[in-house]
Amino acid sequence: MKKNIIIGNWKMNPLTLKEAEKLFSGVAKGISGIQKTEIVICPPFLYLEKLKKLSKKINLGAQDAFWGETGAFTGEVSGEMLYEIGARYVILGHSERRATGESNSDINKKIKSSLVAGLRPILCVGESVRDESHGYFNLVKMQLEECLAGIQRGSVSKIIIAYEPVWAISSTPNRQDASADDSREMSIFIRKILSDKFGKESSRTRILYGGSVNEKDASEFLENGGVEGLLVGRASLDAKKFGEIVKICEVLSK
Ligand code: PGA
Repeated sequence: MKKNIIIGNWKMNPLTLKEAEKLFSGVAKGISGIQKTEIVICPPFLYLEKLKKLSKKINLGAQDAFWGETGAFTGEVSGEMLYEIGARYVILGHSERRATGESNSDINKKIKSSLVAGLRPILCVGESVRDESHGYFNLVKMQLEECLAGIQRGSVSKIIIAYEPVWAISSTPNRQDASADDSREMSIFIRKILSDKFGKESSRTRILYGGSVNEKDASEFLENGGVEGLLVGRASLDAKKFGEIVKICEVLSK
């Protein structure tokens, strides 16, 4: 059975290890009775190793991973290194990284090497704007096709797809709220692309929604957004709010 999953993307927060430990312990405390929901926290790289020791229940993920195992890649961190210190997931293709120049083909290489390293990739897709002629569907289709090119059928269930419309992300200036209908429509579209490409193996691939999710609208997205979980940014920096989102997911899990 696919468990629903709630993923916290801490982005480049918090500033110190001490604060990171406090936040993480707060989350761990708040989710003690949770059984049906998988929980993943993606902190900055340098906190991973310390946080790993604080909870068995929370899975850890990174926010990026370079392709290649070791070598002359100044400033990069590989999937193997991340696995070695306890990460089991990795966010790839986040819009904030795409904005710095990361291409679908870069992301494709990272997905492949992360799978080899034993990490589960969380592939972010989503359009920056919505146009009247619905061109954003083609953009998401292209992101999926290029990022997942050459991925084996047997690996597709390990990949998580996070639909994150950039216009709904909390850090986007003049952002707008996405609705559960927006999420459901895109999730059906993504599911169809995955099924055309990978067949029934893809039915186990989880599709998530992300973009300013909070404790007030989480239930609406989980109930009506056609998704099996959420990717939470800003609200994951507040242990209480994140814990509430996890509990909402738990109650709604069959
Ligand atoms: P947000 O971030 O919840 O703060 O909008 C989500 C994300 O960018 O992953």
